[in-house]
Amino acid sequence: MEKLEKLYEGKAKILYKTSDPDLLIQYFKDDASAFDGKKKGTIVDKGVMNNHMSSRIFEYLEENGVKTHFVKNLNDREMLVKNLDIIPVEVVLRNVAAGSLCKRLGIEEGRVFEEQPILEFFYKSDPLGDPMINECHVDIFGWATKEEVEILKSEGLKINKLMVEFFKERKIRLVDFKVEFGRHKGQEVLLGDEISPDGCRLWDWETNEKMDKDRFRFNLGSVEEKYQEVYDLICTP
Ligand code: TMP
Repeated sequence: MEKLEKLYEGKAKILYKTSDPDLLIQYFKDDASAFDGKKKGTIVDKGVMNNHMSSRIFEYLEENGVKTHFVKNLNDREMLVKNLDIIPVEVVLRNVAAGSLCKRLGIEEGRVFEEQPILEFFYKSDPLGDPMINECHVDIFGWATKEEVEILKSEGLKINKLMVEFFKERKIRLVDFKVEFGRHKGQEVLLGDEISPDGCRLWDWETNEKMDKDRFRFNLGSVEEKYQEVYDLICTP
């Protein structure tokens, strides 16, 4: 399997074609962005840490019955993934109030949703600022079928349950996270993209200290150090 030309470059990752049309190489950059690309910077070795953390989490999810695009880790910055047609709907799961939910609804940060998580959909569009949408928008604008929406919801909830446990064992509270899905060979819906502190809110279980990209978004300092701490908790045996 040979690495071929660049297929797509995003804010934090690059996808390369390979000699197998069904497989892509996902390369993790150190570039960091926030607020739909309005804030830009670098987090030293983020790409290496996110590649290894994502690989570990995809393996864990696969072991627990979640179908993902992950094939295998290749090296420090690259993983081999299945070629997906990405569904332009970001699925966000929230266990604790934070971020845009607090702003939008005036809810106090830190309120725990004991009964059930909150599931939200956003339209994946930087120029529009990833606006929040609901199932009617997804259906009428043809971003996904009704059957696919049911999969996004059920898989989102299943992934949340598994990830809450995974992080709890590592003394981290999974506050919220974003996942993306895509169609494989035009059919089966698989979990895609990455799962790392770039797209999750992770708080220290005891102190509620933020250990994710909010440190970069809001200039809280010790960005690399906190990514490294999460990396050590996830990737060292
Ligand atoms: P939010 O509070 O800004 O809506 O974000 C909720 C979670 O989803 C948070 O962990 C960050 C993640 N997220 C992304 O990674 N990228 C995005 O484009 C959005 C909208 C959210």
